Amino acid sequence: MKTGMLFSAMIIGGSILLSAGISMAADDKGAESIVLKGGSMGSITFPHAVHQGVFVDCMPCHDLFSKEAQIIDKLKTEGKLQKKDVMNMCIKCHKDLAGKDQKAGPTRCMDCHKK
Ligand code: HEC
Ligand code: HEC
Ligand code: HEC
Repeated sequence: MKTGMLFSAMIIGGSILLSAGISMAADDKGAESIVLKGGSMGSITFPHAVHQGVFVDCMPCHDLFSKEAQIIDKLKTEGKLQKKDVMNMCIKCHKDLAGKDQKAGPTRCMDCHKK
């Protein structure tokens, strides 16, 4: 009796894990391109999919903010991220890669802030 109950509990546990895995794989990547608010400098069209194609994991970006739409604005409003925190992370990576002669993104203001 005891082993029977344990076995069915494992099956139920296993199927919960399996369905969670499937739904994550289906909708996890987010939008291909995301418009971010850039205050007085105007908005930034961020090529999300391009970055996901270059980097295997989702860091360093989703180390700083979770995988939710408009999360940057929300954290800035709550004071959990300061103005330009995310921007500085973007620019740091672009500079580091350019410094190593690797393919990188823009570092000049107007190449990101295009309104
Ligand atoms: C170079 C930075 C960067 C990388 C790398 C990155 N993301 Fe994002 N992601 C963002 C930004 C910026 C947003 C938008 C946040 C906001 O709207 O405030 C975002 C938003 C999202 C969202 C929310 C839905 C949406 O489309 O707005 C999901 C889901 C997501 N990312 C998944 C991922 C996954 C999965 C990976 C890794 C395979 C990944 N991201 C890699 C920067 C990145
Ligand atoms: C690699 C792209 C990129 C570059 C280059 C860049 N920015 Fe930004 N900037 C962003 C992003 C993304 C945000 C929104 C997230 C944040 O505030 O960290 C932002 C936000 C801002 C804000 C609004 C902050 C607020 O909350 O009010 C200002 C002002 C700004 N940037 C000015 C500049 C200036 C000036 C330069 C050039 C010296 C510059 N940016 C270069 C991406 C960039
Ligand atoms: C971990 C490093 C890294 C981070 C963080 C990062 N980028 Fe990039 N970015 C790259 C690389 C590498 C490229 C060049 C991709 C290519 O040309 O294939 C790039 C390219 C770009 C481009 C030009 C894309 C094109 O098609 O010409 C823009 C715009 C850009 N990044 C904006 C941002 C913004 C805004 C952020 C922050 C939200 C950010 N990046 C964060 C590495 C990074």
